[in-house]
Amino acid sequence: MLLRKRWALVAALAVAALALVAAATAKTTKHAANAEVAVLLPDTQSSVRWETADRPFLAAAFKKAGLSYSIVNAQGSAQTQQTQAEQAITNGAKVILLVNLDSGSGAAIERNAVAHGVKVIDYDRLTLHGKASYYVSFDNVKVGQFQGQGIVNCLKASGVYSQHPVVAELNGAPTDNNATLFKQGYDSVLKPLYKNGTFKKGPDQWVPNWDNQKALTIFEQMLQSTGNNIQAVDAANDGLANAVISALKARNLKPIPVSGQDATSQGIQNIISGWQCEDTYKPVPLEAAAAAKLAISLIKGGKPAGINGKVSDGSRMVPSALETPIMITKKNWQKPIKDGYIKRSDVCSGDYAQYCK
Ligand code: BGC
Repeated sequence: MLLRKRWALVAALAVAALALVAAATAKTTKHAANAEVAVLLPDTQSSVRWETADRPFLAAAFKKAGLSYSIVNAQGSAQTQQTQAEQAITNGAKVILLVNLDSGSGAAIERNAVAHGVKVIDYDRLTLHGKASYYVSFDNVKVGQFQGQGIVNCLKASGVYSQHPVVAELNGAPTDNNATLFKQGYDSVLKPLYKNGTFKKGPDQWVPNWDNQKALTIFEQMLQSTGNNIQAVDAANDGLANAVISALKARNLKPIPVSGQDATSQGIQNIISGWQCEDTYKPVPLEAAAAAKLAISLIKGGKPAGINGKVSDGSRMVPSALETPIMITKKNWQKPIKDGYIKRSDVCSGDYAQYCK
């Protein structure tokens, strides 16, 4: 009897799971046939932003622009992304918005698209030696500068600045051009301070694919190899920051200044509870709107709107629309909530409600 009950439960769960998969598939393919714009998102592991922010805000921007669209996610596989790009071309896409998984696979997708008369916009990540018509992103060096400056400010506030703190760096994926730009930004702040002896340079490592789980292992090793002697960490995004925070908590260590990026609900929870001292917020709706406007001009002609610079992809200068990031600390943590970027109820839930009063 008990066994039969359990089987019934297993079967019910399986049916529910199948329904979920079906719903998810329906969601991705709803607009797929004859979509004018195809968005290729990278994964769900490196940051929650792609599904929680980019997908809905891009959908809203394309709806507003009156363009048909499809949005798919490669789940971290460059092979899948290649297939998704081919599918988009078959379905009649005129423009592909690409968030590449690395420049090599991205450039291959772009060459194939352009050969089929399909234009490409590099969305958020620049594809080196690619074929994109436009690049839409944020000022990514500035993103890194905010992180470095955030670390400096927090070390000053806690009085540790004058004690030659050891600062560690947890960089993003070595295959993501943005990660290189972020590092360029924070190193422009931190390097002079290492050089003049204000800070001691601690371990400095890249995290393959921005994998948060790998980041945890890497940071645990950093603590191990230094005997916990790390007083601040420049972590390149909120996922990596949370890995650092989890490792500190697991060792019963006290909070130290940690930076982040993406203004995720989890990142803001870490800010208000005092575990993360900086978060770089990038208002994705601005990025999505800029991409939609450029897609319109590629499809319908007319002057491209929002172009404010040119960025080298290593072979050519790519006309670019770069938005401005915002530094978030305990003082202005409500900003992404007020903007409607994340929900107050997601931040102020459970144990975190006490910090929201
Ligand atoms: C994006 C970040 C994101 C990271 C991991 C970067 O290219 O700019 O917002 O956190 O990728 O997905």
